Amino acid sequence: MRADLERILIPRERIAARVRELAQAIARTYAGSEEDGITLVTILSGSLIFLADLIRELPIRMKLGLVTVSSYRGATTQAGEARLRDALNVDVTGRHVLLIDDILDTGGTLRLVRDELARHAPKSVRTCVLLRKPSKAPVDVQAEFVGFDIEDQFVVGYGLDYNDHYRNLPDIGILRRELYA
Ligand code: IMP
Ligand code: MG
Repeated sequence: MRADLERILIPRERIAARVRELAQAIARTYAGSEEDGITLVTILSGSLIFLADLIRELPIRMKLGLVTVSSYRGATTQAGEARLRDALNVDVTGRHVLLIDDILDTGGTLRLVRDELARHAPKSVRTCVLLRKPSKAPVDVQAEFVGFDIEDQFVVGYGLDYNDHYRNLPDIGILRRELYA
């Protein structure tokens, strides 16, 4: 797997340090919501590992919801139309919601889930992404918490995949160009 990377972009130690900082910033933001806590809505599958690390650094009361979005990428790195694969499995009405995704690229995925959440009248919705490609991110989809801004390159590892592979790489790396369409 490592041999399929052009290079490592963000090593595991930097990811871990940044995840702790994000958790601190999130905890400060929700300091006033101790009693009811917050609801994390995580977009599968790319955010699995990020979620697992983030919540263990986040000492606040929380419920977890999961949602699956398919964007028809398959064996390409081009964004397709995002579609919700299932209904929200957690009640977000009147709740403070923190939406978690692995990467903000064209914004199609987050826009879709954010609009779906809005139909259920949450008390607030904020967004946390591990990575963002600022050259592409649209103005109408903003994230309050961002781990790293990266160049517009295709990355894998730490949950992020290419055609469902490489999610278990502990570092984030740039996939060798000749390996994808
Ligand atoms: P968007 O809808 O274009 O913002 O794309 C977001 C989704 O596309 C993410 O949740 C990822 O699953 C996937 N994605 C976008 N860029 C990359 C990348 O560089 N590597 C792996 N997956 C990516
Ligand atoms: Mg994804």
